[in-house]
Amino acid sequence: MNGKKIILGIETSCDETALAVVGDGCRVLSNIVSSQVRKHAQFGGVVPELAAREHLLSINSVAESALKGAGLGMRDVSSVAVTCGPGLIPALLVGLNFAKGLAFANSLPLIGVNHFLAHICGAFLDDRTSEIDEPESYPLLALVVSGGHSALLLVQDDSTAKMIGATLDDAAGESLDKAAKLLGLGYPGGPAIEKAARNGNPGKFAFPRPMTGASGKALDQSNRFNFSFSGVKTSLYYHCKKYAHSLEDLQFICDSAASYQEAVFDVLVRKTIDAVNCFSVKTLAVCGGVACNSLLRKKISDALPGHVRIRIARPEYCADNAAMVAALAFRMPQATPPPYCELDAFSRLPPFIRAPFGAGSIPGGKER
Ligand code: KG4
Ligand code: ZN
Repeated sequence: MNGKKIILGIETSCDETALAVVGDGCRVLSNIVSSQVRKHAQFGGVVPELAAREHLLSINSVAESALKGAGLGMRDVSSVAVTCGPGLIPALLVGLNFAKGLAFANSLPLIGVNHFLAHICGAFLDDRTSEIDEPESYPLLALVVSGGHSALLLVQDDSTAKMIGATLDDAAGESLDKAAKLLGLGYPGGPAIEKAARNGNPGKFAFPRPMTGASGKALDQSNRFNFSFSGVKTSLYYHCKKYAHSLEDLQFICDSAASYQEAVFDVLVRKTIDAVNCFSVKTLAVCGGVACNSLLRKKISDALPGHVRIRIARPEYCADNAAMVAALAFRMPQATPPPYCELDAFSRLPPFIRAPFGAGSIPGGKER
């Protein structure tokens, strides 16, 4: 049996305790997510130590549910996969230690994965999975938009990868979370902004489109694919001060949310499409929590040239989950044997020049 046929994935990088069982790197047999969002809402953001304690309390039962949901026991699992980073260190350590204990007790190899790359695999789960392993899908561009990232990763068919764009300050999700706070819409901000925006006019207020050249100031070419969202947030801050008397007016809030969301998505879509054309991209993958947003999904699909394939992660695989962790692990060239000493947690995205998918990687599904 292939050493990676059935992978149990574990994800605890932020405020979701998630475990999933995935077969052959694509068939999601179970995908359990226990969200702590209500615990953190009172603080207006994720508190790392609280996240770690909550993971500790729920990880065992989430693991049991994942195995039960898949109709399998640990004896059926061929490898364990776990997110090592980037993420909150106290939260990551809970998942990592749990994974080490579980793998060791069952004499299984352990695969440590990068959360950022796992999000990209999330766009190819279920029936679409094979496309990430097909040479004709490349060059592949991934737009990763979450609470921690706004980035464009270009992967070539020989698996070489280049981060062609990243945020210089706030991530897209972070900017939506902060905007929701300013507008009194609560936490998490992305879904709250989306809901309010449905009843608002996106053209009502003009928020800046940073690093697009829209201000009339020539864009430095080194920032052509980079993002910057802190200026939009500052502009909303002054907008709220200017219209302080209207903050109780529901229509004003909805119009402000819609206009703000429009500015953020306009920048994301423009830069992504520019990159698609610039690098003759064959497949665009859109993933991360912000990709749950139906307006962003529509805008990016509508703007994309017809000959380019688009894979937007299904909503259940956009936000943090462990199915994407198992899917990436399936494509990783190496698993770590016990006692897994070299696997450690890391907080920031390390530079990388290769992705574990693409025609240059070892094709998924083969014995390795
Ligand atoms: O991928 P994710 O679950 O966690 C990170 O890795 O960061 O992304 C969380 C982010 C949050 O900023 C949240 O506000 C945003 O995704 N988000 C959304 C929506 N749902 C979640 N943003 C816009 N629209 C949504 N529907
Ligand atoms: Zn994430």
